[in-house]
Amino acid sequence: MSKLAIIGGSGITRLNGLEILRREVVHTPYGEPSAPLTHGIFHGHELIFLPRHGAAHTIPPHRVNYRANLWALKQIGIENVVGVAAVGSVNRVMAPGTIVIPDQIIDYTYDRDHTYFDDNLTHVTHIDFTSPYCEALRQALLASAASANIDVGAGGTYGATQGPRLETSREIDRMEQDGCDLVGMTGMPEASLARELEICYACCAVVANWAAGRSDGPITMSKIEEHLTEGMKKVYKILSKLFISI
Ligand code: HPA
Repeated sequence: MSKLAIIGGSGITRLNGLEILRREVVHTPYGEPSAPLTHGIFHGHELIFLPRHGAAHTIPPHRVNYRANLWALKQIGIENVVGVAAVGSVNRVMAPGTIVIPDQIIDYTYDRDHTYFDDNLTHVTHIDFTSPYCEALRQALLASAASANIDVGAGGTYGATQGPRLETSREIDRMEQDGCDLVGMTGMPEASLARELEICYACCAVVANWAAGRSDGPITMSKIEEHLTEGMKKVYKILSKLFISI
């Protein structure tokens, strides 16, 4: 299997069960990644773990150095990346505590360093982003979930918002009309930067809450954390089977 990295989001600043071999500090032309890369053994297989929000969860979604993170992984030879990400659910069938492997993206983010094809170009480059996720890795995640007996949403559209605030209920209505099933703050430009680097990238979305206006009362951090804990148990089971599926 070609080398796999996991980028962990909220609720996964470290990978439980990872037997740590070493930590590698990588510098990139785009600055520093969110944390040193952790090399370790997970369920008998070597992988690399990178906490998206930093080791102490201090980097908010709009300040993550996505370019440095993906570049650092590419630089050490990573070919497959699973981005684990907490999301809100716009679609009533995707309940908090469940897992979805999205297959589409709508990008509402702004003001983020979102491309490597920026300065000092020898030619202008446009990547194909018709299908934003790597289908082979999506299918591997779905197969892992099946072998772990975990019911997951087998597709859906991830709407990437700027954050760090949550959305208004009307923004969520508009996103639903646009076709979004999920809303999160970190899915872009992570996915498109991976594509620019020709890294096979898929998202494992953990539904942490109903999106704004989709449940009674405010969205509280304590509820989000409760559902993330429930969802992360499933993520661990899926990841533990992933090596068999890739
Ligand atoms: N909106 C945006 N990002 C999120 C949400 C949400 O409701 N929940 C978890 N990440």
